[in-house]
Amino acid sequence: MCGLIGYIGNKKNYEFVVNILKKLEYRGYDSSGLAAIINNRIKIYKETGPILNLEKKLPKSQSSCMIAHTRWATHGKTTKQNAHPHISADKTWSVVHNGIIENYKELKAKFKLKTISETDTEIIAQLLAKNKTKNAFEFIETFKNFQGSFAVVAINKNQANQIFAAKNKSPLYVAKHLNNFLFASDPACFANFSDSYYSFNDNEFAHIKNKKIIFYNKNNKKIIKKPQKILKFEKIEEKNNFPHFMLKEIFEEPLKLKQQINCFKKNKTFDVFNKNFLKKYNKILLLGCGTAYHACQIGAHYFEQILNIPAHAEIASEFIYKTPNFINKKTLVILISQSGETADTILAQKIATSNKATTIGITNVAYSTLSKLVDFVIPIFAGPEIAVASTKAYVCQLSALYALVCHFKNLISAKKIDFSRDILEVSENILNMDFHKLDTIAQNLVKQKNIIFIGKNLDYITACEAALKIKEITYINATAHPAGELKHGYLAMISKNTPVFAIATIKKLKSKTINAGEEAIARGANAIYVSNINRPNCITINCQNKYLTPMLAVAPMQYIAYKMSILKEL
Ligand code: M6R
Repeated sequence: MCGLIGYIGNKKNYEFVVNILKKLEYRGYDSSGLAAIINNRIKIYKETGPILNLEKKLPKSQSSCMIAHTRWATHGKTTKQNAHPHISADKTWSVVHNGIIENYKELKAKFKLKTISETDTEIIAQLLAKNKTKNAFEFIETFKNFQGSFAVVAINKNQANQIFAAKNKSPLYVAKHLNNFLFASDPACFANFSDSYYSFNDNEFAHIKNKKIIFYNKNNKKIIKKPQKILKFEKIEEKNNFPHFMLKEIFEEPLKLKQQINCFKKNKTFDVFNKNFLKKYNKILLLGCGTAYHACQIGAHYFEQILNIPAHAEIASEFIYKTPNFINKKTLVILISQSGETADTILAQKIATSNKATTIGITNVAYSTLSKLVDFVIPIFAGPEIAVASTKAYVCQLSALYALVCHFKNLISAKKIDFSRDILEVSENILNMDFHKLDTIAQNLVKQKNIIFIGKNLDYITACEAALKIKEITYINATAHPAGELKHGYLAMISKNTPVFAIATIKKLKSKTINAGEEAIARGANAIYVSNINRPNCITINCQNKYLTPMLAVAPMQYIAYKMSILKEL
């Protein structure tokens, strides 16, 4: 969730680097910092809160060698001290880092290093200094100590014309324009800087000296890299007239779904999956984290309900700790990740591959690590998702899963499903919401401490996603329960005025969820229905295709979460 930048070239204002850093603000937002070499000294500036806080404190200085970072705390609280860049005790080395140095405590003890922050990152700067690192080979040697994941850009106060970088398991890229070089954790940062960039593989290093870049592998061997063109969709988008990216991204959902369907058609995305493809597998496993996991759960339902093939969804961060005895060459593993960089999902992919499973990645980022690892990629075309809360990427993931499963169904069945038409129909209706009603609901919820969502089958997964969005964006506790489970203990959580959202969009199951809502009302709850019943407390969802209701029903929930966070001034 962090973002990093490194720059070396002609002198530039601090503002230049900070403006690029802002493009990464969506990746992490609790603190930020910048380090610059000026007259053989490293100047460091750090602030907690948004990058704007850092920007306000920066002097109008210039430097030809700078690194910067936006942090989402993992090791150590959100404090200035824990914010990056970190600097060695002797003030020679400063680093920015994405990832986790898993053995930092062991290294600290082994090398008797003193640190002042609570982070794992500081150990990198301290060890580079302790080893008196001066050149690329010594830099690579020092990195042999670190276990875990890292994208690191490092500067040394005595080498203002040099910059060092290392990458393992966390994304890192570098672009060149004339004699200027820019490192970034997302190539979208290179828009307006260069037309192309170089991408690092795991265990690769770079050293820029005297305006030349040299790439190395971990054995100190030079590597020749080919630059890649920056694609249009890698460029970070603007907010346009929307006050926040999250709102803009919810409003983009219809357009992105349409674009996605057109891209699937144009690129013949599913043609690689022929009639015999699924016959090779006796198990289908879908893996992802957070919102992407909810997409996995919906995907598993599609495989079971449309194709009649058992499929199972698992949280990637749990899957990786299981003994994967049951994964083998007859297993098809589908990994879903908006970013394609989620460490647990990537590890899950590696475990699947090492057990000879076939892997398909469904991801929004064509150049991501996941895209490079899997056997097949199904790209989604949501465009950059800048808001931390996933919205448009989720509906695009669902539509990709529906399209994939229907494609398989059409290969074996005489009765064809026109999935393009189905998805386009849904896309037309996504924004048909009564925003006034949703605003009133959001207003009534902001003072609540506990919100409950219930649903059955696919509606239960929408309930889980709605609860996640509320927690993530509003910091209010929200839980989701299968409607039938309420009476098995959870009713105890319902008292006078507890808001209970009963999501009931599936014709066959609707009455059961509505009854569960009634039970909640009997205990004093304020029930809000997400359905097509004629009640004032109903958010109306009309969808003929039960498989696609999750796409329609989630949008008002996303909007309510957004609106609540605005009302809470978060
Ligand atoms: O990039 P990924 O889809 O792999 O990210 C996984 C989760 O961190 C992500 O879906 C998260 O739950 C959402 N941003 C929540 O809105």
